[in-house]
Amino acid sequence: MNDFLKAMHFRHACKIFDENKKISNEQFLEILESGRMSPSSMGVEPTRFLVIQDKGLKERLREACWNQIQITSCSHLVVLKSLIQPVTPPSSYMDRVSLRRGKNDGEQKKWVGYYNKFLKSNEARGISVRNWVEKQAYIAASSMMNYAAFIGIDSCPIEGFEAKQVDEILQIDTFKECVSIILCFGYRIKEQQKRYRLSLDELVEYR
Ligand SMILES: Cc1cc2nc3c(=O)[nH]c(=O)nc-3n(C[C@H](O)[C@H](O)[C@H](O)COP(=O)(O)O)c2cc1C
Repeated sequence: MNDFLKAMHFRHACKIFDENKKISNEQFLEILESGRMSPSSMGVEPTRFLVIQDKGLKERLREACWNQIQITSCSHLVVLKSLIQPVTPPSSYMDRVSLRRGKNDGEQKKWVGYYNKFLKSNEARGISVRNWVEKQAYIAASSMMNYAAFIGIDSCPIEGFEAKQVDEILQIDTFKECVSIILCFGYRIKEQQKRYRLSLDELVEYR
């Protein structure tokens, strides 16, 4: 098994972290870098990384996250926020994105037209801008957790939270953005629990 696949087996949803073990700043920055370099649909980069360091804030978040102990026992806590209003044109954020996309005015306008068409087609399929940006956050989350495992760091994704409470605690402007997922990083205090997976035969269909 190569090192990457070994990391995929090492990673598990760590339920409690060793509070005495802290991730080095250098390795934590690498985890953030793996999030930054993750792909995003149309290259819009809607995910923002909110690193929660304040002890009081962590305790309040734990309450809003169904009292899950990972929130306060982890070494580093990252809330993945997703931009909604800024990625909905017209916006100065999208002007900046389109500037990167096209060399001249005509190319930029063409790209914006294509982008608007894409959002409309999503809407017709029942996928709101919010749904779409949240999907991008999950891709970044996956990269970060897999990279962490690759360097021997444990993680737990947290989707179990009361969104309204979390929004209040973090003072999220819900018109502009939303909290998509919360990631805990640190070191396991006990062996990983048994992991259940369907076999490839059950999961894969070749046509
Ligand atoms: C999007 C997402 C949200 C999750 N939210 C939680 C959570 O709130 N609390 C928790 O303990 N585990 C959470 N998990 C972990 C899953 O329960 C876990 O990944 C699954 O049971 C498989 O176990 P494994 O990751 O250890 O292989 C979440 C996983 C994902 C992908």
